[in-house]
Amino acid sequence: MTTPKLELRGVRKSFSSPGKPEFVAIDDISIAAAEGEFLVLVGPSGSGKSTLLDLVGGLTTPTAGEILLDGKPITGPGLDRGVVFQQYALLPWRTARANIEFGLEAKGISRRQRHAIADEYLGLVGLGGFGDHYPHELSGGMKQRVAIARSLAYDPEVLLMDEPFAALDAQTRESLQDELLRIWRATGKTILFITHGIDEAIYLGQRVAVLTERPGRIKEVLPISIDRDSVEDIRSSEPFRDYRHRIWLSLRSELQSSTNEDEAQRSSTLPLIGAGNHV
Ligand SMILES: Nc1ncnc2c1ncn2[C@@H]1O[C@H](COP(=O)(O)OP(=O)(O)OP(=O)(O)O)[C@@H](O)[C@H]1O
Ligand SMILES: [Mg+2]
Repeated sequence: MTTPKLELRGVRKSFSSPGKPEFVAIDDISIAAAEGEFLVLVGPSGSGKSTLLDLVGGLTTPTAGEILLDGKPITGPGLDRGVVFQQYALLPWRTARANIEFGLEAKGISRRQRHAIADEYLGLVGLGGFGDHYPHELSGGMKQRVAIARSLAYDPEVLLMDEPFAALDAQTRESLQDELLRIWRATGKTILFITHGIDEAIYLGQRVAVLTERPGRIKEVLPISIDRDSVEDIRSSEPFRDYRHRIWLSLRSELQSSTNEDEAQRSSTLPLIGAGNHV
């Protein structure tokens, strides 16, 4: 069997702070992405998606389990992984081009080459001619394009994306989803994409892993097989609707069970409040 590009084995992350019980954000997550795969994790707010991406990015370490890149444990951040965050994490005092050049500086690439590579990636994300613009001169969608270009320019092995299009309007989001698919096909990168959007997950992913709520665990993994060339409007096609319904049911049962738990907890604590905590 070939080694997966990225592998999570029994990953758990908990947070503890003085005077509070340990909080388990994600638990027992095991999943692997093959080289060149587009893997999407979909989960409700608070299911530990960003926590998971931070772990893979090497910004934090797992409480248990391990994360492997090409079979080797991840020990910290590195240029082998490019991260695109939900909010535009651009340096405001640098132009679009200089933002893209940022990662290349760490690689010791000459100034002239950096300039040329940055321009190439600006072109790839459809921003040729905007190299001298500062972030405040760009729209939200353009800023995210720069962020994508920046993470691709230093040629990482894996692209990690944490709801990168969530703050954008529906039309811009859809066009960036298409751009991302085009870039993925052109570059063959392995992508781990995180979202709370069901449609986005189905549209982008070759496989979609559904996360449970608190703590985040993998509930099911669905391979998505849609012939993109056969229909014009994929999102309205029957197979797409079937996937949407299946994932919706999966996420809904999650939310319902957590609501029931919350209610059970609330009703079990109510008598206590009533019993003597009134001032
Ligand atoms: N540093 C931390 N200390 C304590 N708790 C944390 C920390 N980081 C995250 N958490 C908790 O872990 C849980 C998961 O948070 P996380 O940000 O990973 O969720 P998410 O799935 O990305 O949510 P969203 O969709 O809203 O971005 C939350 O309940 C959050 O309060
Ligand atoms: Mg998040």
